[in-house]
Amino acid sequence: MTKKILVTGGAGYIGSHTCIALHEAGYDIVVYDNLSNSSSEAINRVSRLIGQPIEFIEGDIRDAESLRQVFSAHKFFGVIHFAGLKAVGESVAKPLKYYDNNVSGTITLLEVMSEYDVKNLVFSSSATVYGDPETLPIDESSKRSCTNPYGQSKLTVEHILEDLAVSNTSWNLIPLRYFNPVGAHSSGQIGEDPNDIPNNLMPYISQVAVGKLAKLNIFGNDYPTVDGTGVRDFIHVTDLAQGHVAALNYLKDQSSSVGFLPINLGTGKGTSVVELVTAFSKVSGQDIPYQFTDRRAGDIASCYASADKAKSLLGWQAKLSINEMCQDSWRWQSMNPNGYKDKV
Ligand code: NAD
Ligand code: UD1
Repeated sequence: MTKKILVTGGAGYIGSHTCIALHEAGYDIVVYDNLSNSSSEAINRVSRLIGQPIEFIEGDIRDAESLRQVFSAHKFFGVIHFAGLKAVGESVAKPLKYYDNNVSGTITLLEVMSEYDVKNLVFSSSATVYGDPETLPIDESSKRSCTNPYGQSKLTVEHILEDLAVSNTSWNLIPLRYFNPVGAHSSGQIGEDPNDIPNNLMPYISQVAVGKLAKLNIFGNDYPTVDGTGVRDFIHVTDLAQGHVAALNYLKDQSSSVGFLPINLGTGKGTSVVELVTAFSKVSGQDIPYQFTDRRAGDIASCYASADKAKSLLGWQAKLSINEMCQDSWRWQSMNPNGYKDKV
C-alpha cells in the first residue's frame, strides 16, 4: 500500500510540524500550499531538519486543474487537509473570503479526491465548533454551534463530510478537532509566525517576552474560573502532529470504512491565561508585563477536551507539559525574533 500523503497547507504552522512527524513515521509527503499565510522558508527548514528535500507544489486548493495535475502525478493513500484561513476577526470582516477559501476550497479538493479515488481524509477542524460548551470536559458528541464565519466554515465542512460519508460508504473522513495549539519544534527552527500583531495568546506572550510588544492585555479577569481569567486546553504542536500520524496509522489498519469520525486533540487539562503567563515568565526568565482589560467579544470562560476517544481509538495522547510548550515557544521566538524573515 502506498504511504504517500498529500499535505495541503503543509507550509503553515501545524502543517510544517506534521510534515516532520510524517517523515519520521515513514510516510512520503507532497506539500501543496499557496503560501498565502506562510513562507517557503518553512519548507526549506523542514527539508533541512529531515535531511532531504520536500516535494513542494505552490498551488491553491480552489484550483481544480492544478490539483488534478498533482493527483495524476502521484498515487496518494490520503490527504491531510490543513489549508485554510484562520483569523476569527478577519472572518467577521470578510466572510465571503473565508467561505470561499475554507468551504469552496474543501469542496474542490474533495471532488478531485473523488475523481482519483482517494478516499482517506484527515481534516483540520477546531474546538471552535463546540461554541460555548454546556459541559466540561467537551467530548465529541457535544452540541456544535458557531458564532463567527471562521467557526462556521469549519462546522460547514464537517457537515459536508458527514453528508459525503452517508452518500458513499467508501469514504474515511476524520475531522481532528484541535484545542489550542502552541509551542514549536524543539530545534527552534520552525514555529508559529504570525503576519501581524498576534491575535492568539501564546504568540502574543512570546512577542512581549522578546521585547517586540510592550505588554499583554488579558481579556477579562471576572470569568468563573480558577483566577478569573479564561481557561484553555493548550496542546503542544508536536503532540498535535503525532495525532495526525496516529489518525493515518489508524486508517491504514482498518479493513472497512470508518465514514465520518470526529476526534478531539487536546490534553484534557485546562490552564488559565495567568497560569500560562506565569509559566512562560519562569521558563524564559523574562518579565511579561500585563494588564487586565475588558473581555474580548466572542470569548468563552473555559474550554478543555475529553481526550478519551483519541486514546482509545488511535492510541494517542498528549505527552508534553505546559512548561515544555513555553520553553519551545520561547526558543523559537528568541532564535527568530522576526520569524522566517530571520535567516538561520
Ligand atoms: P497556518 O495559516 O499557519 O497554515 C495554513 C496554511 O494553509 C498556510 O500555509 C496557508 O498558506 C495555506 N493556505 C491557506 N489557504 C490556502 C489555499 N486556498 N490553498 C492552498 N493553501 C492555502 O495555520 P495553522 O495554524 O497551521 O492551521 C492549520 C489548519 O488548522 C487551518 O485549517 C486552521 O483553521 C486549523 N486550526 C488551527 C488552529 C490554531 O490555533 N492554529 C486551531 C484549530 C484549527
Ligand atoms: C481563538 C479563536 C478560535 C480559534 C483559535 C485558534 C476567538 C474568539 N477564538 O481561540 O476560534 O480556533 O483561536 O486560532 O478568537 N487572550 C488574552 N490576551 C490576548 C490573547 C488572548 O487575554 O492578547 C486570552 C483569551 O481571552 C482567551 C485565551 O487567552 O481566554 C486564549 O485565546 P486565544 O489564544 O486567542 O485562543 P481562543 O480564544 O481559545
